[in-house]
Amino acid sequence: MSAQVSENHRPFTPEMIDLDAPEIPEGLSDAEYGEVLRRLSQASVDRHFDAFADIDWDHPDFAVRHDDPRWVLPEVDPLGGSAWYKSQPLEKQIAMGLWRQANIFKVGWQFENILIRGIMQHVFSLRNGAPEYRYLMHEATEECHHTQMFQEAVNRIGIDVSGMPLWIRAISPALPLVANRLPVAFFIGVLAGEEPIDHTQKAILRSRDESHPMMGRIMEIHVAEEARHISFAHEYVKRNAPRLGPVSRFAAALAFPVIMRVLGDAILVPPKEFRRTFGVPDELMDELYWDSPASQKMLGDTFADVRMLAEESGLMNPLSRRLWKKLGMWGRRPARYRSEPPVKFAA
Ligand SMILES: [Fe+2]
Ligand SMILES: [Fe+2]
Repeated sequence: MSAQVSENHRPFTPEMIDLDAPEIPEGLSDAEYGEVLRRLSQASVDRHFDAFADIDWDHPDFAVRHDDPRWVLPEVDPLGGSAWYKSQPLEKQIAMGLWRQANIFKVGWQFENILIRGIMQHVFSLRNGAPEYRYLMHEATEECHHTQMFQEAVNRIGIDVSGMPLWIRAISPALPLVANRLPVAFFIGVLAGEEPIDHTQKAILRSRDESHPMMGRIMEIHVAEEARHISFAHEYVKRNAPRLGPVSRFAAALAFPVIMRVLGDAILVPPKEFRRTFGVPDELMDELYWDSPASQKMLGDTFADVRMLAEESGLMNPLSRRLWKKLGMWGRRPARYRSEPPVKFAA
């Protein structure tokens, strides 16, 4: 590991563009890969949720009140942990918490909507007998429920948020087409949406004694089903990235951290509209996203699993490693196993 870290500090030289890096992993065999997808598909049959049958939306405990302190942002949220936020009046902290959670739900379902469209593009041209067909249709079914669940939560919170930055919404019709042409890049993009939401929801579930019951139920359902989706995307990238030609693999290695950072920011960073509505100082935003050492550590922790994936799938080379670092997503080391809890975030 220390050898890798010191490599990041080496000045760039053309030799770093090594298209034939010798340590390309083989990935799973056809039989092993088929078995993983069969198990994930069976797990979808055994344990799945319906957005309306499994959430008691009209239960009195689920009512959203705009004076409920359980909507104050948690300490694990960079803004929620900041001294500025804590110094605001309680009503404003609650209003910001409601706005932020509603927007995360909206961004969440917009990502999932793009994913569903991409899955439909991808499976349309699969051969008969392809193991991905059944699993991906289970995943799309689950994501349909998630989009309904998230939009219902936005409606119940009752704040008119718009979700993703405008530029991503504007290019969103083209993104599902990537699933046909560049499926490895597409599933890296899927992870860029799923990993930060999953990481944030797990951190909140781990840190909170008492969440709002509606939030708690939604996060519990989502974390349970996303585990399968994230597993699939990891296996897909691990299997297919090593099979790319050297130029495509090299390009994918460079695109990996960029896709993660750009799409991750769409979820993790509160949009301009939020900053304007609540008068959040620009310098504070810069510090929290992602100039301060504590927030850099958070960014590194959020992407620890995908860094491990990049290493395991032959998508890490000296140049891409520098890019991961430059984009502030390196952290001290990749995760040792998926979902390894980070060391506690201290603001
Ligand atoms: Fe989802
Ligand atoms: Fe998902």
